[in-house]
Amino acid sequence: MTVITVPQIIPAQPDKPVLDDVPELQAFARAIAVDGVWTTDIARATASMFDGMAATWNTQHSTNRFDAVRDALRRGQIPVGGRCLEVGSGTGQITPLLTDHFDEVFCVDLSIALLTQAPGCDSFRICCDASRLPFCDQVFDAAVLVDTFCCAHELVRVLKGRGHIVWINLLGQDGPLYVPATDIASALPGAWTSTESAAGWGSWSVLSAVASPSEPASTPWP
Ligand SMILES: C[S@@+](CC[C@H](N)C(=O)[O-])C[C@H]1O[C@@H](n2cnc3c(N)ncnc32)[C@H](O)[C@@H]1O
Repeated sequence: MTVITVPQIIPAQPDKPVLDDVPELQAFARAIAVDGVWTTDIARATASMFDGMAATWNTQHSTNRFDAVRDALRRGQIPVGGRCLEVGSGTGQITPLLTDHFDEVFCVDLSIALLTQAPGCDSFRICCDASRLPFCDQVFDAAVLVDTFCCAHELVRVLKGRGHIVWINLLGQDGPLYVPATDIASALPGAWTSTESAAGWGSWSVLSAVASPSEPASTPWP
C-alpha cells in the first residue's frame, strides 16, 4: 500500500488528555475494523454506553479540539462538493466543518441521545447502525469517521468507486479507538493509498481506492 505522509503543520498543544483502558479499547476497535467483529449485542451496548454520556458529552468527554478534521479537509486532497457520510456523528460538533466542504452531509449514529443533542444544521441525521446503512450502493463521494468504529465492508458498499474514507483520531495514537490507517485499508476490498498526517493532538488519513484495470465499469448515483 502506498502511504504519502504530509508534514505536520499544526503543532500539538500542551495538556493532551490521557484516557484509561486505551490498549483494550484499541484492540476492540481493531477487531471491529479488521476482523469484522460486530453483532447486534455490541451495537446495543455501544448505543447504551453513548446514550449514557450524552448529557455531558460536549463538556466532559469531547476533546473539543478538531485540528485533525480541519487539516484533513484542507490538505487531504478530498474534492470539494459532493455527498458525504459522517459515521458516528455524535452531538454534531464536527458536522459544520463537513457542510462547509461538501454539498450534502448525511450523519449517522447509533445513539439517539447524542443525535438529539446536535444543533440544527444543514445536514441530515439518521439513527442507525453503520454496519447496516439505510443507503443504496455507491451513493457517497466521501465517508468521514472521527473517533468511531469502522465497519469497513458496509462503508465501501455505499461509497462510489473513487470515493474517499477519511479516518480521524482526535487523540492520534493515544485515542481509545485509534487503529492505524494501514490496518483499516487491509480490511477493505481492493487496493488503497493513504495520505496522512498529524495535526494538534490528532491524526488523520485519507484512504483512496486505486482503480484496478480489470474493474468493471460502475454506475454510481449522481
Ligand atoms: C467517541 S464518539 C465520537 C463522536 C463524534 N464523532 C465526535 O468526535 O464528537 C463515537 C460515536 O460513534 C458512534 N458509533 C459507534 N459505532 C457506531 C456504529 N456502528 N454505527 C453508528 N454509530 C456508531 C457512537 O454512538 C458515538 O456517538
